[in-house]
Amino acid sequence: MASTRMKLINLLENNRAEYISGQELSNQLDISRTAVWKHMKQLELDGYQIEAAPRKGYRIISNPDKVSQNTLQWGLETKWMGKHLHHYDQVNSTQDIGHELAKEGAPHGTVIVADEQLKGKGRKARSWHSKKGEGIWMSIILRPDLAPVQAPQITLLAATVLAQVLAVEGDVEPQIKWPNDLLIDHKKVSGILTEMQAEQDHIQYIVIGIGMNVNQDGSKFPDDIRYKASSLKESTGHAWDITKLIQKILKKFEHTYEVFLKEGFKPIKLTWEHYGYRIDETVTISTMKKKWKATLVGIEADGALQIRNEDGSHEKLYSAEIEWGEGGYHA
Ligand code: BTN
Repeated sequence: MASTRMKLINLLENNRAEYISGQELSNQLDISRTAVWKHMKQLELDGYQIEAAPRKGYRIISNPDKVSQNTLQWGLETKWMGKHLHHYDQVNSTQDIGHELAKEGAPHGTVIVADEQLKGKGRKARSWHSKKGEGIWMSIILRPDLAPVQAPQITLLAATVLAQVLAVEGDVEPQIKWPNDLLIDHKKVSGILTEMQAEQDHIQYIVIGIGMNVNQDGSKFPDDIRYKASSLKESTGHAWDITKLIQKILKKFEHTYEVFLKEGFKPIKLTWEHYGYRIDETVTISTMKKKWKATLVGIEADGALQIRNEDGSHEKLYSAEIEWGEGGYHA
C-alpha cells in the first residue's frame, strides 16, 4: 500500500505539465489542505523543487539529485526487489546493517543503500573506499532456497547483472574478472562482497554487497589503487545519476534471479563467460607450490574457474594468483 507521500508524488509526477490544486490533492489523498501543505514542505526539504502558484495549485519542477528512500523507490519497476529499502546518509558498512536486518527477519529483496561508508569492506579483508555521493554502496538481502555450496552462483549472477547494466546504460564494454570484479578498459569499477549465514544444508540468508565507483574523478582515488581503479565517469566522460543506476541494477537483478530460479545456473554461466575477462586467453597462474601457463575456459557452478593446461587437461581453480597481464595486478 503506497504511503500518502508516495501517492502525492505520483499525482504530481503524472501531471508534471499542469498544476493540481490543493483542494484536488486533499480530495484525492483524503487529507486536509494543511496536511497537503506540510507534505509539500517536506518534499522541498528532500530536494524536490515545487512550484506553488496562487489559485492554480502545485507542480513539480524538478526531482532531487539527492538519493533517498523516496527517490529510490519512486520509479522502481520491480515486484519484490527493493520493496523494503533503507537509505542512510552515513554508515560504517551497509553489509553490517544487512546482517542486522536479516537477523531481525528482513524479507528477501531488502535493500540497504548509503551515501557514504566509513568502514566499507572489500573482499579478502580489504577496505573499500566509499566516499559521500561518489558511488553505489549497497547491500541486498536474499533468502535463496539453496545449499551453501551454491552460494557462489549468486555472486556470479550479481556480476552478470552489473555487467549487463553497464553495457546497456553506459555503452561501454565491461568485463568480469574472476571471480567478480567488474572492469572497464582493464580497470576495476565495481566489486561484489558476498556474506552468508547458513546451516549445514541450507542458506538462511545472503548479504550481497555491491560497490560501484560512479562519479569519482580519477585523481580522487587513493595512490594505492589509482592505477587499477576507475569510475563510470572516468570511463564514459560524464557524471551519472546514482538513483537511476541503482534502480536499473535492482530491476535487472530481480529479472536475472527469476531466470535463475526457472532455468538454473546455465544461462548465468553463459552470460558470465560472455563478459569474462581473458576467457580463451593464456595467463600465468601460481599457487604456493607451482607457477604455470594455462588458458582460461570458463566458470563452474561452484564458482571455480575452469582452466585448460598446456597438456590439454582441464582443472578447477578455487583460489590462485593469476597474472592478468594488462595492469599487472593479481586476483
Ligand atoms: C571487492 O573487494 O571487490 C568487494 C567490494 C564490495 C564493496 C561493497 S560497498 C557496499 C557493501 N558494503 C561494504 O562494506 N562492502 C560492500
